[in-house]
Amino acid sequence: MGAPGSGKGTQARLLVDSGGYVQLATGDLFRDHLRRKTDLGTLAQSFMDRGEYVPDEVTVKMVRACLGEIGSGTRVVFDGFPRTVAQAIALDGLLAERRRRLAAVLLFEVPRERLLERLGGRATCSDCQQMYSLAIRPPKREGVCDRCGGPVVATARADDSPDVVGRRLEVYDEQTRPVVEHYERQGVLRHIPGEGSIDEVFARVRAAITDVDSSFPPNGAAA
Ligand code: AP5
Ligand code: MG
Ligand code: ZN
Repeated sequence: MGAPGSGKGTQARLLVDSGGYVQLATGDLFRDHLRRKTDLGTLAQSFMDRGEYVPDEVTVKMVRACLGEIGSGTRVVFDGFPRTVAQAIALDGLLAERRRRLAAVLLFEVPRERLLERLGGRATCSDCQQMYSLAIRPPKREGVCDRCGGPVVATARADDSPDVVGRRLEVYDEQTRPVVEHYERQGVLRHIPGEGSIDEVFARVRAAITDVDSSFPPNGAAA
């Protein structure tokens, strides 16, 4: 969990790369539907373009379908879901049905000015999808991916315009802060300071989930 620009996608990808996790990112799933011009994509776009959340019912249905395709022994890192208390309750149900459990909830904490900087100048490697911020974390060689040498292109999202970013931050405060409290009460929330380099933040992520890593079998191992 974390506000727009707090690094959810960046850190989730690093966890996937380090092995043992698959990523389930609702924003990415909606954007994929949008590219494929499905009905769900068209519906989602009308909300995303305004920085509003897609209705819970629609979002939960998509997550349910996606979980159905993920093997039962697989560790999943949710990115951007759940974002409302109703979604958090629905997730509890989805996991209980599958006899799975939520191991931990990570909350990335980043000051607002930093979020605004990061969301301006977003860039991505066309080959490996590594994310960069042209404003504060450009690739070492201009236009060339540090990780794979592929082309890095500016990828400001349609919802990165200043007014939509402002609304995304407001919606986060209104609808997602209560989810933070929900998980705080359940005792599963772990706060991750989200400032510093991407690698520094990742080291904090790793340190925060050492118990999860040892108590949940990695993907591919017997459950
Ligand atoms: P979603 O796609 O989830 O977007 P978001 O939460 O608004 O935020 P971002 O993806 O922009 O931020 P992030 O935290 O992933 O940060 P990132 O790693 O990219 O959702 C989009 C929309 O879809 C929503 O508004 C809603 O309409 C809909 N939606 C999605 N899920 C939904 C749900 N569950 N229910 C209802 N509607 C839903 O990092 C940002 C930038 O910073 C990058 O350029 C990155 O390279 C850079 N960066 C990251 N870490 C660092 C660092 N440590 N130092 C410097 N730069 C960094
Ligand atoms: Mg993201
Ligand atoms: Zn790359």
